[in-house]
Amino acid sequence: MFNNWKELEESILNCKKCKLCMNRRNIVFGEGNKNADIMFIGEGPGADEDAKGLPFVGKAGQLMNKAFEGIGISREKVYIANVVKCRPPSNRIPQVDEASSCLDYLRNQVILIKPKIIVLLGSTALKNILGKEFAITSARGKWIERKNILYMPTWHPAALLRDEAKKIEFWKDLKLVKEKADFDSLNF
Ligand code: URA
Repeated sequence: MFNNWKELEESILNCKKCKLCMNRRNIVFGEGNKNADIMFIGEGPGADEDAKGLPFVGKAGQLMNKAFEGIGISREKVYIANVVKCRPPSNRIPQVDEASSCLDYLRNQVILIKPKIIVLLGSTALKNILGKEFAITSARGKWIERKNILYMPTWHPAALLRDEAKKIEFWKDLKLVKEKADFDSLNF
C-alpha cells in the first residue's frame, strides 16, 4: 500500500500483473476529486475509455453524466474508478485473476480518498467489492454499511442503454445517494 498518490500512480504505470496489459492502449487509473466524499466504481474500461485513458467517457458514461446533471451531482466533485484499469477484450467481464490482481490498486485509492459513500455500478463492482454472495437485482437501491463506508449498489449505466425500466431505478438509487449526501452535508 502506498500512502500518497504519486507513488501509487507510479506503481501502476507499467503494470503487467495480468494479461489485460497486452492489448491496452491506456491504463484507466480513475478520475475526479481525490478528496471526494462520494466515489463511483464501475467494471472496467471500454473502447472509448481505453482510447482516452479516462473512465466513463463513452455512451454509458454520457448517460451517467445526464443522470448526474438531472439529479445535481457534480462529476468533478466525485471520484470515478473501475474494478480493472485495463480494457478486457471485447468488453467481456473481467476474469477472477484479472480483478484480483487489480483490486489492490482500487483498495489503495479508497484508502487515500476516504469516501463516505461508494456507489457500486453493476454486478462486477458489487461482487468484487462486497462479496460473491450479493446479486445486483436484489441488492440494488439498498444501503449496505461496511467499515464506516455506506455502499449503494445500482445498475451499471451500460445496462440502462438496453432497458428503460432500469433507467428509472438507476435514477431512484442516485437520488437516495443525493438525499443522504445532502442530509450529511457531503461534498458532491
Ligand atoms: N464501463 C465501465 O464499467 N467503466 C467504464 O469506465 C466505462 C464503461
